[in-house]
Amino acid sequence: MIEYLMEAARLAGHILREGYGKTQSIEEKGRATDLVTATDKASEAAVRAYLAKNFPDHAILGEEEGHSGDKNAEWTWFVDPLDGTTSFAHGVPFFSPCIALAKRGEIVAGVVYEPLRDEMFAAESGSGATLNGQKIVVTETADLGRALLATGFPYRIAENPNKTLEMFCAVGPHARGIRRMGSAGLDLAYIACGRMDGYWETLLQPWDCAAGCLLVREAGGRTSDFKGGTHDIHGLETLATNGAIHEALMERIRIGQDASFRLP
Ligand code: IPD
Ligand code: CA
Ligand code: CA
Repeated sequence: MIEYLMEAARLAGHILREGYGKTQSIEEKGRATDLVTATDKASEAAVRAYLAKNFPDHAILGEEEGHSGDKNAEWTWFVDPLDGTTSFAHGVPFFSPCIALAKRGEIVAGVVYEPLRDEMFAAESGSGATLNGQKIVVTETADLGRALLATGFPYRIAENPNKTLEMFCAVGPHARGIRRMGSAGLDLAYIACGRMDGYWETLLQPWDCAAGCLLVREAGGRTSDFKGGTHDIHGLETLATNGAIHEALMERIRIGQDASFRLP
């Protein structure tokens, strides 16, 4: 199946490359922080058409068009047609389509594709993870103080859900650095290929994290919720690391969640 995922991601990536840097319609999805462009919609339409043609019985959950097909279907595709819309809309070159496939609820394959650098991150359950066909593995960094981390902020950050800001403050001073790159899929892919060591975010959707979390696990890393429990793509918490810094990062997140400050 991985060939189909990669082909769908290439189709989407082509549309992203074509739309990038061109003036186009940008809408706010109810708040100024949550955008959708004509390219998000065109990309999802193309992926859906490709999947419907090849797999008419499969269900699809896509960010822009929601759920289609039988809710009890054996196979479900999770499609984020453009992960990193805010960057894309502002001309910042860091975005990707993310596509994952689940069989009876279990993620069996996932791809994250960076179209501007032509980097295809792919994983199949039990078969490892690759970048442009070459096997990738997570880092061995065991010291949080020497770890490069990524995180992201939910669109309703103004409400500080799940103590997003306290967590950031609790982790920040204890890592080598933190990047907020604006694409959860690429954040996770960068852990899988050893460019970064760990990542956490709250309130992700299944299309944001399903492919990337499989990449991390298949590259030898660990994913969980903020307490070390099994990661749930439908849950509120995503913590993904090389494994070696997992407990230390989880402890800083716990300290953040136990703290409380009043926002100015
Ligand atoms: C967003 C990006 C971002 C993350 C947000 C996501 P979108 O996805 O992955 O990095 O911080 O939580 O919603 O809206 O650009 O597809
Ligand atoms: Ca996304
Ligand atoms: Ca998106």
